[in-house]
Amino acid sequence: MVTLDKIRKPIGADLDAFDEFVVRNFTAEGKLLSDMLRYALSARGKGIRPTVVLLAAGLNAPVRRERMGQRAYLAALLVEMIHVASLIHDDVIDESDMRRGKPSVNARWQSHRAVLLGDYILARNMSIGLSSGQFDLVTHVVETMSALCEGEMLQSERADRGGMTRAACLEIIRKKTAALIATSASAGALAVGAPREKVALMHRFGEALGMAFQIQDDILDYTPSAQTGKPANNDLRERKVTLPLLAVLERAGEVRRTELLDRLSRCREDEAEVEYLRRTVEDEGGIAAAGGIMQQYLAQAAGLLAGYEPSDYRTALIDLCAYVAERDR
Ligand code: FPP
Ligand code: MG
Repeated sequence: MVTLDKIRKPIGADLDAFDEFVVRNFTAEGKLLSDMLRYALSARGKGIRPTVVLLAAGLNAPVRRERMGQRAYLAALLVEMIHVASLIHDDVIDESDMRRGKPSVNARWQSHRAVLLGDYILARNMSIGLSSGQFDLVTHVVETMSALCEGEMLQSERADRGGMTRAACLEIIRKKTAALIATSASAGALAVGAPREKVALMHRFGEALGMAFQIQDDILDYTPSAQTGKPANNDLRERKVTLPLLAVLERAGEVRRTELLDRLSRCREDEAEVEYLRRTVEDEGGIAAAGGIMQQYLAQAAGLLAGYEPSDYRTALIDLCAYVAERDR
């Protein structure tokens, strides 16, 4: 089993410097806002995106560096804070009251204040980026924000209209999650002055990794033993058709498919339907099918690193691919 500690080893000192960089840059005026911001930053989670930024920076630096430096920390900060803000907003949208084993910001301070905190973080992020003068990095990262919103909107549109397709499902995953992990990898390369084709290659690597990351997230939602710190089966309660359920729906005949969708429509208020669908997805191979698709993306991601010389950064990124499939949190 690959651990995150092992993956982070080549960039341990950089991650410490990055944490200080976040605390130094992200301050707020007023007690309520400061309390909320501190709370959001204290539960930042696994830090996959900063890890990807810093490893990609190490992999693409023209000469080996002791530290990745301020541009890499800035790139990591920009992507991580977009991520933090998007989850605060996501929990409002999903009416979710738990995140990383703690009450979500909306559960603790109510939705209207959670929306404001997310907005504040995005606004501060822009100020920090622009005042740094590193316009290439800011432009590169900011373009991803619209993809996140498009992904969420597409997901919401499909939940209302029904009729999820494989193409739409993958498009949602690509936009809401893979886009920002793709940008993390490419921004890391850009931060150390990598040539354009390497920046593009890293983007493709991050996108494949990000697709796999979200598919595993969707699988863990169906896994009662997972340690995600989020309520299990929330996707069913929110009537979201993610890949594990979609794989079962695709194989079902017309009558069975209508029955399953009927049951899904009752999942918000009926826990028995949630449990029925969870078990059906497991028994009828939905988890295994989604796992197979995830493995294809991981093979693609690892394959994109083949042209790089062996190094501890490359090993760590390949290990990260294995971690995504093995993780239970
Ligand atoms: C989590 O998905 C949500 C996202 C990865 C994206 C959320 C994006 C927005 C709310 C758009 C706002 C955009 C910006 C830039 C602030 P999930 O609900 O499947 O995962 P979960 O189980 O972790 O909640
Ligand atoms: Mg959510």
